[in-house]
Amino acid sequence: MLRDARDPAAIEAAVQALQAGELVAFPTETVYGLGADAGNGDAVAGIFRAKGRPADHPLIVHVADAAAAGVFASSIPDFARRLIDAFWPGPLTLILPRRGGIADVAAGGQDTIGVRCPAHPAAQALLRACATAQPPVHGIAGPSANKFGRVSPTTAAHVQSEFGPGLLVLDGGPCQVGIESAIVDCTRGRPVLLRPGMLDVARIEAAAGQALARPEDVDRAAPRASGTLEAHYAPRARLRLMEAGALQTALDVLGAEARNIAVWSRAILRTPAAGVVRRRMPDDAAEAARLLFAVLREFDDQGVQLIWIETPPADAAWDGVRDRLQRAAAAG
Ligand code: TXA
Ligand code: MG
Repeated sequence: MLRDARDPAAIEAAVQALQAGELVAFPTETVYGLGADAGNGDAVAGIFRAKGRPADHPLIVHVADAAAAGVFASSIPDFARRLIDAFWPGPLTLILPRRGGIADVAAGGQDTIGVRCPAHPAAQALLRACATAQPPVHGIAGPSANKFGRVSPTTAAHVQSEFGPGLLVLDGGPCQVGIESAIVDCTRGRPVLLRPGMLDVARIEAAAGQALARPEDVDRAAPRASGTLEAHYAPRARLRLMEAGALQTALDVLGAEARNIAVWSRAILRTPAAGVVRRRMPDDAAEAARLLFAVLREFDDQGVQLIWIETPPADAAWDGVRDRLQRAAAAG
């Protein structure tokens, strides 16, 4: 069931559903989340079942503000505190040491917890209403509202197409960031970037006051992060990344015979084939991120078998988009 997220009655219905241990999908500025009361293990188990996600892949917990992070985290290092001050509410998830006995199921067996304070007004309204409800819901465990390994949803309609009409979905319009939050692990003495998002790495480093390490720089075995699996975010069609020249050559080789192919490129490519679906990739990385998952779903809906995408530029602004595309390509 879709409900307008600006309707206070819809927020109230969502709070009651969460209190009753049910699942609710909600908008954030990055992607839509599939939420449950983080403090209710049975409810959170329902997220893993609905997504088909392995139980040892931890979920992040959404909170209304920095103070609520302290419900789930046992301590917050100084550099993490600076990141919170700089970027919350916003598209940044922090991995923090977990308070014993809290959100065990959401944490998937880790002694750490991912915490994020989203900026979307509907997410804020929902989280604030949850925090003041009786009994309160202090945090919403919420992975992206898609089946495990598939493309994340950036509209309420995407969520419905994943889980059907029975699920309560708060419709907050299309997500403005479009790819998932950046994840910084703050449990290893220095900040480690587990997943790039649309926050500039240089800005994160400036706020933290130190350089970001890469997971491979840190000796301890990395905790599981499904968004960091090599193959993830996959459309049904096989996705390949190619430079513009190689893409044009491939289209030229097939000529008028090309069919069941979709192309997303910044370069304007020529083909005589009517059966090739073409979309322009924006020159701006933020704009491309905003469209990315909707474009992949649109290509799948057209029934193409191949998706050919021009390799994004090498500069840091494209890190998040490049990361998602490389993982989607690895799944094919
Ligand atoms: O933008 C986002 O982060 C969205 C919206 C809904 O907030 N959520 C999201 O959740 O992308 P999900 O579950 O699809 O991705 C969260 C990632 C996963 O790769 C998960 O494994 C990792 O965060 N993660 C969660 N808790 C962790 C922990 N304690 N240690 C390491 N990684 C963790
Ligand atoms: Mg996900």
